[in-house]
Amino acid sequence: MSRKYLIAGNWKMNPAPLVLRRDMPHSPYHPRPDVDVVVFPTFLDLQSCIDAKILCGPQFGHTEEHGAHTGDISLKMCKNLGCLYTLCGHSERRADHGETSEDVAAQAIAALELQMHPVVCVGETEEERDAGKEKEVVQAQIAVLPLESDITIAYEPVWAIGTGKTASPEQAQEMHAYIRSLLPEDRQEQTRILYGGSMKPNNAQELLSQSDIDGGLIGGASLQSDQFGEIVEIASKLSE
Ligand code: PGA
Repeated sequence: MSRKYLIAGNWKMNPAPLVLRRDMPHSPYHPRPDVDVVVFPTFLDLQSCIDAKILCGPQFGHTEEHGAHTGDISLKMCKNLGCLYTLCGHSERRADHGETSEDVAAQAIAALELQMHPVVCVGETEEERDAGKEKEVVQAQIAVLPLESDITIAYEPVWAIGTGKTASPEQAQEMHAYIRSLLPEDRQEQTRILYGGSMKPNNAQELLSQSDIDGGLIGGASLQSDQFGEIVEIASKLSE
């Protein structure tokens, strides 16, 4: 496979893992040559990640540079801090903050304009999968994105997030191949599609071995540096 694995940690609304607070020069979160590693901490921990030379980005950023948006922080401010990535459209943002697919696409476009790399989340709920609508839902979320640009897509079935229920490797591969088929032909080979939803050291090997799974967006297990490190090592071995 020509695509390099990307292993990303989504720390959500949690304090940074202890190793970072201990100021370690090397950790499983630090960049390495064979696998791309990125973390998405809270806004409060972005600066420490940057100081520690860890690639990172916000979990959300406002599309406007500045202005009357109480409580928000802009993508531009994050870029100025040194962030090279941003997460867009995580299902928790879509659910808790009413972000629509159009809002998510606008964030991805704003990020690209700032030369930040958007990792855009898509995925169906359990109800939608039970109704056999998972592809329809994901197709609509994908259709509005700037697919001709350099973006990463993270397929995160909502029913698998934080639940311990993982999509089976076959279910994930089927959706990833479908998502790839929706990309413009000249972007299909290089666009990375990550899987997210209860990825752990014990299932990462099977998931990451699928031909259209190019990495993981890891929540719970990314807060434990040893577990995150194990997943990065699995991706490294698979890249050999
Ligand atoms: P999880 O979260 O690994 O805890 O399921 C993944 C995510 O929400 O990005």
